[in-house]
Amino acid sequence: MKANPGGIVSPADVVGRERLIAQLWATLERQSLVLVSERRLGKTTIARKMQAEAAPDLRVIYMDIGAVSRAAELVERLAQAIRVHLGATKKATGWLAEQWSALGGLEVGGILRLPESKGPSWKVALDRLLGDLLHSTGQRTILIWDELPWALQKIARTEGEPVVVDLLDLLRSLRQTHPGLRLVYAGSIGLHHVVTGLRDEGYVNSPLEGMCVIEVPPLERSDAAGLAAALLRGEGLAAADAATAACIADLVDAIPFYIHQVVAALADQRRTATPATVAAIIAAALTAPEDPWDLHHFRSRLNEYYQNEASTVRALLDILAETQPLDLNDLHARLQTAFRPDNDRARTLLGADRAPLRNLVRLMQRDHYLDLVPGGAYRFRFDLIRRWWRCDLGLD
Ligand SMILES: Nc1ncnc2c1ncn2[C@@H]1O[C@H](COP(=O)(O)OP(=O)(O)O)[C@@H](O)[C@H]1O
Ligand SMILES: [Mg+2]
Repeated sequence: MKANPGGIVSPADVVGRERLIAQLWATLERQSLVLVSERRLGKTTIARKMQAEAAPDLRVIYMDIGAVSRAAELVERLAQAIRVHLGATKKATGWLAEQWSALGGLEVGGILRLPESKGPSWKVALDRLLGDLLHSTGQRTILIWDELPWALQKIARTEGEPVVVDLLDLLRSLRQTHPGLRLVYAGSIGLHHVVTGLRDEGYVNSPLEGMCVIEVPPLERSDAAGLAAALLRGEGLAAADAATAACIADLVDAIPFYIHQVVAALADQRRTATPATVAAIIAAALTAPEDPWDLHHFRSRLNEYYQNEASTVRALLDILAETQPLDLNDLHARLQTAFRPDNDRARTLLGADRAPLRNLVRLMQRDHYLDLVPGGAYRFRFDLIRRWWRCDLGLD
């Protein structure tokens, strides 16, 4: 297998994930699900493999909707995906053409479009399209929407947050009305950053009600080493021994994307794969000014994620980059000496009441920055990101 960081992995080349995928199928028997993780852990790879290997009685439609920025566009894309899925039989094409024209839809140059103003709204179109699809065949249907949070963020910007709330509400009601329908929402941005109301616990009418949230973890250690070994072989770096493959897996926290990156760099630089060359490649990736692994992203997204809490989050991560694990009291004490609050919210977080700080740290856990270790102390979720953070602060 060739190193292919960030590319599409064919289902046969997907390493590991058997147990997780079995768990996802079992969950889908019962309910819809939300697939979350830090970016690059392998959500898309898993979703595509599930589509490719679905049982014959299941209809699994995978859609990457990251480019969608209007609710109507989502419905158009769905119609398009259903068309591809149903295939070119006369019955199927006739069914879709009939549905689409009943909704006032058009076909322009092979692309299905909803009219901008006249005709039923995207809500009616979504409701009818899915409802009729499920009724007409009775086949159990799983719709996988990859990068949904990203699409929702764009829809919120172009059409406003109420449209996003309407969309999620309609999807919830469709899930609840049609027993044969399962939705899978996948994406790296937590939906709590998209729909403000979801951020506070206890939000009534949660659009995710009844959905099971499952986190995609790094690969299991033996699978990560297996992936590294397969890539080393595939790149003709076969001299590498098992210790080198294990070293790659360990140094990048068993995250498949970085395993591909390390082997790709070894191959590009025509270096012999040894633990020492692997360590050198990772050290270079963490400090290179071009930031080849795009690690700066973990810092630069903070403003957008946390807004007027961002300066506090940065300070907390700076503190933990220096010393970890630390419990809430230690974090609070260190914040008080090391951090100058720059707004009222930051001042509240530093106050005597620990609840606001505890909630913020919980949110950082939800966003995969932090882990709570036994005994109640916090640490970086991924050592690789902590290493980058230390380099960025000039500590290493
Ligand atoms: N199970 C796996 N086996 C082999 N390579 C993988 C696996 N999962 C992910 N990858 C690699 O990691 C990259 C990122 O994975 P991806 O599924 O796109 O992550 P996410 O969708 O969570 O951001 C892929 O392009 C591929 O190179
Ligand atoms: Mg993805």
